[in-house]
Amino acid sequence: MSAMGALAELALPLLRRLPPETAHRLTLRALKAGLGPQQTEPDPPALAVTLWGRRFANPIGLAAGFDKNAEVAEAMLRLGLGFVECGTLTPRPQSGNPRPRLFRLIEDGALINRLGFNNEGLAAGAARLAARRRELGIVGANIGKNRDSADDIGDYVRGVTTLAPVADYLVVNVSSPNTPGLRELQRKSAVTALIERLIKARASVTPERPPPLLLKIAPDLAPEERVDLAQAALASGVDGLVIANTTVARPASLKSRHAHEPGGLSGRPLFALSTQLITEMYRLTQGKLPIIGVGGVASGEDAYAKIRAGASLVQLYTALVYQGPGLVQRIKRELGALLARDGFASPAAAVGAAAQAPRAPAHGR
Ligand SMILES: Cc1cc2nc3c(=O)[nH]c(=O)nc-3n(C[C@H](O)[C@H](O)[C@H](O)COP(=O)(O)O)c2cc1C
Repeated sequence: MSAMGALAELALPLLRRLPPETAHRLTLRALKAGLGPQQTEPDPPALAVTLWGRRFANPIGLAAGFDKNAEVAEAMLRLGLGFVECGTLTPRPQSGNPRPRLFRLIEDGALINRLGFNNEGLAAGAARLAARRRELGIVGANIGKNRDSADDIGDYVRGVTTLAPVADYLVVNVSSPNTPGLRELQRKSAVTALIERLIKARASVTPERPPPLLLKIAPDLAPEERVDLAQAALASGVDGLVIANTTVARPASLKSRHAHEPGGLSGRPLFALSTQLITEMYRLTQGKLPIIGVGGVASGEDAYAKIRAGASLVQLYTALVYQGPGLVQRIKRELGALLARDGFASPAAAVGAAAQAPRAPAHGR
């Protein structure tokens, strides 16, 4: 392990003693100061993914919400992530919900947050994205609406027109549980209208090389809503799905005293729920829409399961809080070994393998 890596692992127990938002703020500050560990060797070519005409050095990315204001995207790429999703950014800056609003469910390997899109606004985020070194890797931007907005669709249009020129991909977040009414936008008619507007807005600012536009969905959709959403996604021309956001469900297995805090639950208890939704949406869209799989990934085996369920790329957030930055190298090493074991030459070759062959492979695990 590098000296920086060792420093980061040492910092973990100290950070854990601080309130979670304080720990997050200090982590961002350390990353901005260049104190994060840095990967020295390039990723093995067998981990590369080409999607939407863009090359990802590896399929493991940072999920939205860690770098809401696009302050540390370069530091996170240097750490070895294959891509980073900044945001959620809203048109105007907003402070979010009253504190406390972020809770560690340590026994459960989980977090609950009800931050409510605290962020510095589109202009600040766009300026940082424009100034970044693009050759370091793929940086996407996740967009939302202001809590007190009078024009929901207009807010997303501003997100697209402001960020399409400076982001490698865009994610339309209609699935955060912490902005009242937001998730209603996942309904079939609303999604279709929203995506069609946004595709037009994108064409108006980036006619040449438009960034792919993805839709991020909730794990709490009812079965018929999933069917509707799959149809709407295919018909609307959206370029992919991010599955899934945090859940408002509270599995009975949760042990932490914070289990019943309102907000979105992430981490280990979300893993199976989000993987099942990937499987289902992959089938409902006949594998035609690339999926970014997210929710509870904490190992190479977890990442591999998301890919086999139908994800072309994978993201994580909560496990990084508990395991620290060394986790990124560990996941990539484990994933590489699992792909090789099963004879897949690339992550792309394994996408949806579990959906096509539901029975366990015969190598006797
Ligand atoms: C503290 C926190 C803040 C988050 N903020 C956002 C956000 O602003 N926008 C978004 O789309 N998802 C947000 N998420 C959800 C994550 O992007 C991800 O979908 C979810 O946490 C599941 O992944 P994980 O189990 O690896 O954390 C947030 C998650 C956490 C834990």
